[in-house]
Amino acid sequence: MSDLFSKFDPLIEQREALLSTGLTDPFNLVMERVESPTVAICNGRRTILLGTYNYMGMTFDPDVIAAGKKALDEFGSGTTGSRVLNGTYATHKECEDALKDFYAMDHAMVFSTGYQANLGIISTIAGKDDYIVLDIDSHASIYDGCALGNAQIVPFRHNDIEALEKRLKRVPEGAGKLVVLEGVYSMLGDIAPLKEMVAVSKANGAMVLVDEAHSMGFIGEHGRGVAEAQGVIDDVDFIIGTFSKSVGTVGGFCVSNHPKFEILRLVCRPYVFTASLPPSVVATAATSIRKLMHGADKRAHLWQNSKKLHAGLKALGFTLGTEEPQSAIIAVIMPDLETGAAMWEALLNEGLYVNLARPPATPAGMTLLRCSLCAEHSAEQVDEILAMFGAAGRATGCI
Ligand SMILES: Cc1ncc(COP(=O)(O)O)c(C=O)c1O
Repeated sequence: MSDLFSKFDPLIEQREALLSTGLTDPFNLVMERVESPTVAICNGRRTILLGTYNYMGMTFDPDVIAAGKKALDEFGSGTTGSRVLNGTYATHKECEDALKDFYAMDHAMVFSTGYQANLGIISTIAGKDDYIVLDIDSHASIYDGCALGNAQIVPFRHNDIEALEKRLKRVPEGAGKLVVLEGVYSMLGDIAPLKEMVAVSKANGAMVLVDEAHSMGFIGEHGRGVAEAQGVIDDVDFIIGTFSKSVGTVGGFCVSNHPKFEILRLVCRPYVFTASLPPSVVATAATSIRKLMHGADKRAHLWQNSKKLHAGLKALGFTLGTEEPQSAIIAVIMPDLETGAAMWEALLNEGLYVNLARPPATPAGMTLLRCSLCAEHSAEQVDEILAMFGAAGRATGCI
């Protein structure tokens, strides 16, 4: 019998080599208690959280929690069914209405995760003979959506407008074309030049889908994302998003003004063939989304945090993923996995949690310490974070 697990041997060896040095496993941390959006107890000690996607700090919002508890009492713990059978409750409709209001769009479809939203929408609208032109650094869920639909995939160099145009011009005449972009790229925290890219896509007859997972709630005047901030939201055909970041719970969605959008509810397999989200989850999402519509002050504070951390880390001598802060994600580039893991552990010992990110999730084989800020981080916490980075950086020889 051939062992189907042998293909994982190189990864198993790499992991064992890393842990044999006595290092804490960076991919197996347990949060023993979570006190707020910015503080948890890990290994028995108070730890500042700088590696969550809780950008707007909604997870402990009293109205959000109350909405979830009420739905749990009124509708029970789960739907036990697909959205197209017994799995659409009043709460699911309220959540889709909140999304339509948030984006000022005609249609909204809620999925069980953001991963499934990309999987479902991309695979359903772009099939075998269609072409998907996508940024090479696209999220795994985008690639998996392309693979599920069996479309022709044409990747272009990250954020390269000319490369996108060239690829679009090479698509055979008459073929269906979908351009897939992200507002914020989650590894380096850089934003896409959506204004130019959407214009190029439209000029070449393509539909455009933008994944705004890491910008929703924060970027743009109303928090609608990078497409809003760059003034092209009306030219985007589909926006994909998630509830697992600024919204502060779990779930995914697509919003659109396409007049035939509603048919997707019958033909999109990752929507039809899975159970819908529990009513408590969609009730918390609906409340959170409606509150995010009035989140201008929080957005302004989060920008302050992002600028302060970026400037502070740069001044300490770290190499960062972007020259200027472009989002709530600030990536610190590490020379290799071993140093990255040592620095990650030193930070944890100081009382700071960040994400250790490594290939294949990262571009160009990079190891990153990914910091994601929250609107609930105080200015004092950002000072504490910088002091911890200084101490850990000196202890590991990174700076
Ligand atoms: C760009 C992007 N799209 C989609 C997703 C999937 O979101 P979810 O966690 O809701 O499955 C993620 C998650 O990290 C993401 O970064």
